[in-house]
Amino acid sequence: MIYVKDLKKEFKKTIKEPGLKGSIKALFKPDKEIIKAVDGISFSVEKGEMLGFIGPNGAGKSTVIKMLTGILTPTSGICRINGQIPQENRKKYVKEIGVVFGQRTQLWWDLALRETYAVLKEIYEVPDDMYKKRMTFLNEVLELDSFITSPVRTLSLGQRMRADIAASLLHSPKVLFLDEPTIGLDVVVKDNIRNAIKKINEEDGTTVILTTHDLSDIELLCERIVMIDKGKKVFDGEISELKHNFGQMRTLRFELQKAADIDLLDYQKKFSATQDDIEIESDGALISVRFNSDAVSVEDMLSYTLSQVHVKDINVTDADIEDIIRRIYRREVSV
Ligand SMILES: Nc1ncnc2c1ncn2[C@@H]1O[C@H](COP(=O)(O)OP(=O)(O)OP(=O)(O)O)[C@@H](O)[C@H]1O
Ligand SMILES: [Mg+2]
Repeated sequence: MIYVKDLKKEFKKTIKEPGLKGSIKALFKPDKEIIKAVDGISFSVEKGEMLGFIGPNGAGKSTVIKMLTGILTPTSGICRINGQIPQENRKKYVKEIGVVFGQRTQLWWDLALRETYAVLKEIYEVPDDMYKKRMTFLNEVLELDSFITSPVRTLSLGQRMRADIAASLLHSPKVLFLDEPTIGLDVVVKDNIRNAIKKINEEDGTTVILTTHDLSDIELLCERIVMIDKGKKVFDGEISELKHNFGQMRTLRFELQKAADIDLLDYQKKFSATQDDIEIESDGALISVRFNSDAVSVEDMLSYTLSQVHVKDINVTDADIEDIIRRIYRREVSV
């Protein structure tokens, strides 16, 4: 369905030295710096798959999406979607894809939403009966009814995002690109949008590529992720694989009957463990012990702590995907 091979995008940036002299020099004899925004990325996506595309700020995610949707032309490399090259035959290609950039709307500011959809219907040449059916379906999953007669400029961010997603799906595209579809939304609206994306993927079999900084989006929607950093791919696989490989850190939280001191050194000595294997945070009667379950078993950690302090309540946290990814971004672990 989607095939990307050794994709690269370089941007030329003019470097300006400080001061007036620098400005004049930049005008006549500019120093150019080449930014390798995307530096040789390859991956493929199956039909009907939902892929999470993640990476820190500036990693090159949006630049990849822009190349896949034909907005930017690659410096080199191949991308093919459904057998087509996005930059060739644009008119045909845009009918097969849907795109949403969460950071900015693609709707007309002054038109009522209903009018906007009517215009898009003509642009995409959607037949009347299909359009009716589609609007009913989109209305149902994205709950557009309460604001469909309002001009786009009056919509709240959450309403606008739902409106944008509906617009991108009006022509039943085979592939949907979502660049940060939940950015800036409250938890309830995020939940609505996630459910809608899930439903669209399930019912229409739409292939979805999704970039996000909210890892709950990924955990709830995607089985597989591609992680990029500084324009290069650093991980491609199932989330469960990531958890399996890096998720050995566990956290035990204890609520004590009364505040007590707990000594990290005692723990390290007891388990002959290093600083990386055990961390302890204590805040009066609340203690949290984070430890490497490969080095110390949960059972041993529990029974030792219970022998040291009087515990009122215990809470065990599983390997946390957010924690794993934070460590990869910070290069504390390498994939
Ligand atoms: N039009 C452009 N001209 C020059 N440099 C650009 C341009 N677009 C992107 N870049 C640079 O390319 C790099 C990748 O940017 P990109 O927007 O793809 O990152 P991103 O992974 O989407 O980040 P974020 O998570 O912040 O959205 C950045 O260093 C950015 O400054
Ligand atoms: Mg981006």
